[in-house]
Amino acid sequence: MEQSNLINEDLEIQILLENIFCEYGYDFRNYSRTHIKRRILHRISIESKINSISEMTKKILNDKKFFKVVLQDFSICVTEMFRDPLIYKNVRKNIIPILKNKEHIKIWDAGCATGEETYSLAILLKEEGIYNKTEIFATDFSKIALNTAEEGIYPARKIKKYAENYHEAGGTKVFSDYYRMKSDHVIMDKSLRERIIFFEHNLASSSSFDFMDFIICRNVLIYFSKELQNQVVTFFGNSLVDKGILWIGSRESFKYLNCNKYFKPIDSVNNIYVK
Ligand SMILES: C[S@@+](CC[C@H](N)C(=O)[O-])C[C@H]1O[C@@H](n2cnc3c(N)ncnc32)[C@H](O)[C@@H]1O
Repeated sequence: MEQSNLINEDLEIQILLENIFCEYGYDFRNYSRTHIKRRILHRISIESKINSISEMTKKILNDKKFFKVVLQDFSICVTEMFRDPLIYKNVRKNIIPILKNKEHIKIWDAGCATGEETYSLAILLKEEGIYNKTEIFATDFSKIALNTAEEGIYPARKIKKYAENYHEAGGTKVFSDYYRMKSDHVIMDKSLRERIIFFEHNLASSSSFDFMDFIICRNVLIYFSKELQNQVVTFFGNSLVDKGILWIGSRESFKYLNCNKYFKPIDSVNNIYVK
C-alpha cells in the first residue's frame, strides 16, 4: 500500500475512534493501533454494505446496534478456566500463603471476560480454605461477557480441557463437583458465586478501587498502547494495599513502562509483582 494511503487509513481510524468516544463514551484512542486496525478491517470484510473505514464510522454513529457489534469486536473475550495452569500452580504455592495471613482478602479480577478466570480463582481459594474471608470484584467493560459470567453457564464441550487445566494447576478434587450438567452446557456451582461481584468497569476511563490485596489483570494490557498501560498500571498501584500483589498475563511486561516504580517482581517468570 502507498504511504499516503496508509496515512489516510491511520487518520480515518483516528476519526472513527474519536467519534466512538464522543458519541458513546468508550475510549479506544489509546488501544494498540495494530489490534484496533485488525478488528476494523475484519469487520469491513464481513459487512457487505461497508466498503471503507469512513462508511463504518457513519454506520457506527447512526446505528447503536452496529456499535455494540463493533464493541464486541474490540473486546476480545478469549479465555478459559485455569488458563496457564502451571502459573496457577505457582500462585497456589507462593501467593496463597501470603493471602492466608490476612484477616480479610479483597481481590480485583480486572478484565474477567466471561468469568472463567474468576471461577478458577474461587475454586482455588475454596480449596485453600480462604474463600469465606474473600471478596472478589470481577470487572469488564463488556456487558455481554459479564452476563455470561453472572450466569456461570459454559458449553459442555469445553469442560474436558478445563478439567485437564484444573488438575495441571494442582487441583486434587473431582472437577465435576464444581458444576452440574444441563443438556450441552455446564452450570457452575452456586457456592462459587457467593463471594463474587461482577460489574461493568472500563479500565480506560474509570477510576481505581481501594485497599485491594490482589489484582489479577491478565491478557488485557496487551491490547493497550504503552501510554494506557502506564495509566492502568498506575491505577493498580493506587488500588493495592502496601505489599499488595499484581498478576499480569504471561505475554505482558512492565519492562518498557515507567510506572514500574510501584512494583518489584515477586515471581518474574510468571509475571507476578508486589507493591
Ligand atoms: C482476552 S480477555 C482476558 C480474559 C481473562 N483475563 C483471561 O486472561 O483469560 C480480555 C478482556 O479484557 C476486556 N477489556 C478490554 N478492554 C477493557 C477495558 N478498557 N476495561 C475493562 N475491560 C476491558 C475485554 O472485554 C475482554 O473480556
